[in-house]
Amino acid sequence: MMRIGIIGGTGYVGGELLRLLLLHPHVEIAMVTSRQSAGEYVFNVHPNLRGLTQLKFVPQDISELQKNCDLVFTATPHGDSVNLVPELLSTGIKVIDLSADFRLKNPADYEAYYGWQHAHPEMLKEAVYGLPELHREEIKGASLVACPGCMATSAILGLAPIIKAGLVDTDKIIVDLKVGSSGGGSKPTSASHHPERFSGVRPYQVTMHRHIPEVEQELSLLSGQHVKIGFTPHAVNMVRGILATIHTYPKQQITSKDLWKALRGMYGTEPFVRLVKYQKGPCQLPDPKVVVGTNFCDVGFEIDEHTNRLLMFSAIDNMCKGASGQGVQCLNLLMGIDETMGLKSAGFHPM
Ligand SMILES: NC(=O)c1ccc[n+]([C@@H]2O[C@H](COP(=O)([O-])OP(=O)(O)OC[C@H]3O[C@@H](n4cnc5c(N)ncnc54)[C@H](OP(=O)(O)O)[C@@H]3O)[C@@H](O)[C@H]2O)c1
Repeated sequence: MMRIGIIGGTGYVGGELLRLLLLHPHVEIAMVTSRQSAGEYVFNVHPNLRGLTQLKFVPQDISELQKNCDLVFTATPHGDSVNLVPELLSTGIKVIDLSADFRLKNPADYEAYYGWQHAHPEMLKEAVYGLPELHREEIKGASLVACPGCMATSAILGLAPIIKAGLVDTDKIIVDLKVGSSGGGSKPTSASHHPERFSGVRPYQVTMHRHIPEVEQELSLLSGQHVKIGFTPHAVNMVRGILATIHTYPKQQITSKDLWKALRGMYGTEPFVRLVKYQKGPCQLPDPKVVVGTNFCDVGFEIDEHTNRLLMFSAIDNMCKGASGQGVQCLNLLMGIDETMGLKSAGFHPM
């Protein structure tokens, strides 16, 4: 049994980690920390876990984590993991960080996109970007895994096969995203207040979004040349889920056969990427509603001959494949066990 600690256990991502790890047969949750709710039962904050655990939140204490845990998940806001993670690593604990603080290789990107200087730029090389579909072997031997952003996950998985196959222009890519409200975390703001957000479709951070540099970083690695993307999210009326609609321009004429070859070549044996392009049924292309509560990423495509576009579609649950499920997939790889352990579940239909 691997002994797991969770820092930031009262948050949405922490709660989703608890949901998955409480039913995982090869781990024991040793400690869940909270600054605000230490002493409280976990189920008082995450009511879906009633009857499944008697765990209580405990204060954040590095020496207690060192004594009781083999691996710690940091589910803390970006800018807060940056000092916490090196402290944990120095005690010999492995870390899976769910924040943005170790995802980027170029420290200058933190200044440009996050507005702060990275306090430990030397550690960025050591961190492994926690997307198993691209970095499976590196994750297995990592001490620090930096899990991707939720929107970055959907954008990268939607684009990776066609970028790898060199099918499209790498400087004319537009990622348009529809995002559920849980993507913003559990701390309410005036913009997330129910009367303000409900029934709206609101574009936000329409340029210079913080997930741009990680998407460009990973796709440039795959392509061998610099990939540039436009990236615009919209807050829509869902709690969980992301749909990325990605507009690309083929370098030369392409056919469905080329697309299937690229997609099957990359994802043919992936346990959590499903290719979705059907002629029947209500969801012929990816729809986030179908993947809610699961670790699946559904990927589909359509060729638009009228405007010479190739449209890619990618749907995930932001909290699962976009955060905690992906973290558990990385944990399984680190432990050397079946990558799907504790993650096999179907979504709901209807929902
Ligand atoms: N929500 C998503 O869909 C999603 C997807 C991918 C990645 N992420 C990333 O995952 C992380 C957590 O996201 P979230 O949505 O769960 O946020 P959240 O709901 O706001 O939770 C963050 C938790 O971190 C704790 N915390 C805050 N500041 C801290 C500090 N300085 N030191 C230690 N703990 C601190 C808080 O717990 P206490 O106040 O009780 O200590 C809080 O419960 C973020 O970095 C986020 O960007 C989120």
